[in-house]
Amino acid sequence: MDRDREPQRHISPSPRGDDRRVDGLLRPQHLADFTGQELLKTNLGILIEAAKARGEALDHILFHGPPGLGKTTLAHIVANEMNVNIRITAGPVIERSGDLAAILTNLRAGDILFIDEVHRLGRAVEEILYPAMEDFVLDLVVGKGPGAKNVRLKLPHFTVIGATTRLALLTAPLRARFGAHYRMEFYSEKAIQSIVRRGAAILEVPIDDEGAAEIARRARGTPRVSLRLLRRVRDFAQVRAEGAIDRQVALEALNLLEIDELGLDNLDRRVLDAIIGKFGGGPVGLETIAASISEEPDTIMDVVEPYLLQLGFLERTARGRVATPHAYAHLGVPLPAGREMAESDPQPRLFDE
Ligand SMILES: Nc1ncnc2c1ncn2[C@@H]1O[C@H](COP(=O)(O)OP(=O)(O)O)[C@@H](O)[C@H]1O
Ligand SMILES: [Mg+2]
Repeated sequence: MDRDREPQRHISPSPRGDDRRVDGLLRPQHLADFTGQELLKTNLGILIEAAKARGEALDHILFHGPPGLGKTTLAHIVANEMNVNIRITAGPVIERSGDLAAILTNLRAGDILFIDEVHRLGRAVEEILYPAMEDFVLDLVVGKGPGAKNVRLKLPHFTVIGATTRLALLTAPLRARFGAHYRMEFYSEKAIQSIVRRGAAILEVPIDDEGAAEIARRARGTPRVSLRLLRRVRDFAQVRAEGAIDRQVALEALNLLEIDELGLDNLDRRVLDAIIGKFGGGPVGLETIAASISEEPDTIMDVVEPYLLQLGFLERTARGRVATPHAYAHLGVPLPAGREMAESDPQPRLFDE
């Protein structure tokens, strides 16, 4: 399975080997290098400047949105801008409350604790986190049996940055403890183009505007996808062309990768094919779709669905997923009798400008 499609389950969300080194190089370090998400950047900039001016730790921050849009990157940027240490962990990794206590007691004033997949924290761990985030205290039980005592430790003022792809799975009390919530949006094609050009400059691969535009068009509004496509197109350019990326080179490489003109890949098409071909266009439950194509429901929910919803190819209804007439049109499948394209059907909308 493609790495970009794995829901992130492990402690380090970064990929392996050479791509990891490249990933580090490509990751913007300062807010000013972070392209797109203008409103979020403005608000985050104000939050940072105000905390700095007051000489205080930042309020707790929550980033939510589909994978690959820059949540982890922003957490690192915030640490850089605040000039503080960042400690990185993830919901499923903190198994026992003792693990969290150990992390918390090692933090210094102002430090950032980044918790990826924060919706996957265990119940007992969350209970420790509430007073730590709210009152900066750690409640411990020392000793065992009748002699056991409750001890309350003071913690330095630190900042939790949480990231999640599933806001709905976050418990209400935990959500309430984040003072700043930021929703990540899919990027405009223009923003992705400049991310591709910046990436190409860092990788020292020549690219012209049309080549960058072609990659951006098929990157489903997602920086991680655009940089992955850039690396694969760069391979193609190196082996099959003169090393430089123009429109023709990009097109040939992307066609070989089976990425279509809307950025749909093999898995997206299999999901749509299943809904339309096997389940009459829906409604059909997510689990059923996943089982019918032998994929993880999480992968479909996190990676495939947000983009298909954004394109207007899919609708979520109480009874399950439904393929829209636009999806039929894109796959070149005639609409079943009785399901005409209504005047009111929204046009597919690729990006928020
Ligand atoms: N706004 C941006 N500008 C430039 N590169 C970005 C931007 N957002 C994300 N990236 C790059 O995209 C990749 C994925 O970003 P990441 O922060 O890991 O996403 P997430 O944590 O939301 O899954 C990283 O390589 C990062 O450098
Ligand atoms: Mg991440």
